[in-house]
Amino acid sequence: MPRIYLSPPDISMQDHASVDAVLASNWVAPVGPHLEEFEKTVASSVGVKHALALSSGTAALHLALQVLGVGQGDEVICPSMTFAASANPVRYLGAEPVFVDSERRTWNMDPALLEKALQERSAIKAVIVVHLYGQCAEMGKIIELCRKYDKPLIEDAAEAVGASYQGWPAGSMGDIAFFSFNGNKIITTSGGGMLLSNHQEWLSRARYLSAQAREPVLHYEHREVGYNYRMSNVLAGLGLSQFSDLKRRISAKRAHFEAYKAAFDKYQNVAMMPIQEPDEANYWLSCLTLSGGVSQRDALIAALETEDIEARPVWKPLHLQPVFDGCVCYGGQVAESLFAQGICLPSGSGMSGAERQRVIDAIISFLNEGFRS
Ligand SMILES: Cc1ncc(COP(=O)(O)O)c(C=O)c1O
Repeated sequence: MPRIYLSPPDISMQDHASVDAVLASNWVAPVGPHLEEFEKTVASSVGVKHALALSSGTAALHLALQVLGVGQGDEVICPSMTFAASANPVRYLGAEPVFVDSERRTWNMDPALLEKALQERSAIKAVIVVHLYGQCAEMGKIIELCRKYDKPLIEDAAEAVGASYQGWPAGSMGDIAFFSFNGNKIITTSGGGMLLSNHQEWLSRARYLSAQAREPVLHYEHREVGYNYRMSNVLAGLGLSQFSDLKRRISAKRAHFEAYKAAFDKYQNVAMMPIQEPDEANYWLSCLTLSGGVSQRDALIAALETEDIEARPVWKPLHLQPVFDGCVCYGGQVAESLFAQGICLPSGSGMSGAERQRVIDAIISFLNEGFRS
């Protein structure tokens, strides 16, 4: 039986046709009509005025921080429970991340601890909020706090394309926001990202920096250090095709989550990640927590591996990562306990019902055999 992956790319014949059409057009560099169309399509679907397609979500965050003026000596708030790419660009600019723990309701940044950090620290230059595994953070409170303390809010919606919060699409709520189209995301351009904002001057500056900071003159003139961060027009063609399939992907992923939830409901030692508003998450990854700590978590992952099924622990909190040793963290125990107990399950939008049943059967047989050490 073929291996079941966590979240593999889901590439259709329509994607092949779309990429072939771009190649035939000969617009293969990071410039061309598909790029413009991809930016316009995503911006209008999210409801923001400006979008910039880039080579990765990490590049998008780097540019977002830069246009907000983050630099040496500044601090930037970031949730602890996230991928390292949510904080690495803070360090590219010589600033320091300040981590904030999760709340149990959504696994996202705890607004009460965010307020404590904002109250206590004068060096905070910006706040990064992350929508973990495709469920939005408590944005009402977080936006209110950022306004109260007059700090710009960067929305890391890397995992949340197609999700929303009280009707507001992910990517439309921060002062500046970004998506990732990495190979494991709900839609992919192999690698890629998009920066979104209603602030035209920020996105113009990001556009300029993303293309080697070239001055608008005939010859090559540069007054600042720039980056080679633009997305290729070929990949924008793939992105357009993938984006048109987003609704089906969300439904497929939601069906996986609901099937897992129904199957594990009667097991007291297992709980699915709490989803607050089922119609608003994009269900990028279905996650569960298993009581019993790290040894049980790892035993279940190993048991799935013997059936050729890929599963992984949830993100290791950034305040525990050696690279961020010494960084301040507000709270931390919730993220630590989620890490000790949390597992991401196969959630591909192309995973069949039969494959999903293989995953469910393997987990149930692990649970029925009781906890192994
Ligand atoms: C929460 C989060 N932020 C940022 C990123 C970075 O995106 P990329 O891989 O496109 O650079 C990712 C994913 O990879 C992510 O999951």
